[in-house]
Amino acid sequence: MLVAIDGPAGAGKSTVARATAEALGFTYLDTGAMYRAAALARAARPDVDLRRVEIAFDEQAVLLDGKDVSAAIRTPQASQAASRLAVDPAVREVLVAKQRALVGEGDWVAEGRDIGTVVAPEAEVKVWLTAAPEERARRREIPVAELVERDERDASRAASPMRAAQDAVEVDTTGVSIETVVARIVALVPR
Ligand code: DC
Repeated sequence: MLVAIDGPAGAGKSTVARATAEALGFTYLDTGAMYRAAALARAARPDVDLRRVEIAFDEQAVLLDGKDVSAAIRTPQASQAASRLAVDPAVREVLVAKQRALVGEGDWVAEGRDIGTVVAPEAEVKVWLTAAPEERARRREIPVAELVERDERDASRAASPMRAAQDAVEVDTTGVSIETVVARIVALVPR
């Protein structure tokens, strides 16, 4: 079983996806963390072959070739670098393959930009999580202009642009509690 949660930055994907996974007893997959870790790997070694880089999760930690990069991937620079790297089709191919291998077995809540459209169009439940740009910028503690710039890059790239799957259920989190959002998503999961 796979619950795919896609949407723009600051929509609440990480918080909601983690809480939904916990409520359902599923495993949580943060695909954005994989793009962020890949961007760190490239920043350290521009010619690195990402197929040979190990990106793994250990509880809450993100490991890059065994090293804990959980904090390093959350800087504003890492956010921008990940968004820039994510336009590269070769990079996406490598990371999508890793993601498919993970969610192919077991029960998952996976969050990203292209889970319902590219990584797993067969996902049983697809959610498109949104919120007003002002609220999303406030949650991320960044200027609205910076958030909009990143949204536009994520949505306009040629390789699997960020967009809602046709069969995704749109959930607007503006002014809605996490509990309410999670309950709405849990109710979509057939049991
Ligand atoms: O969700 P996030 O902010 O951690 O994602 C970081 C960047 O990675 C984001 O700008 C877009 C990119 N990304 C992507 O292109 N596809 C995904 N499935 C997840 C993230």
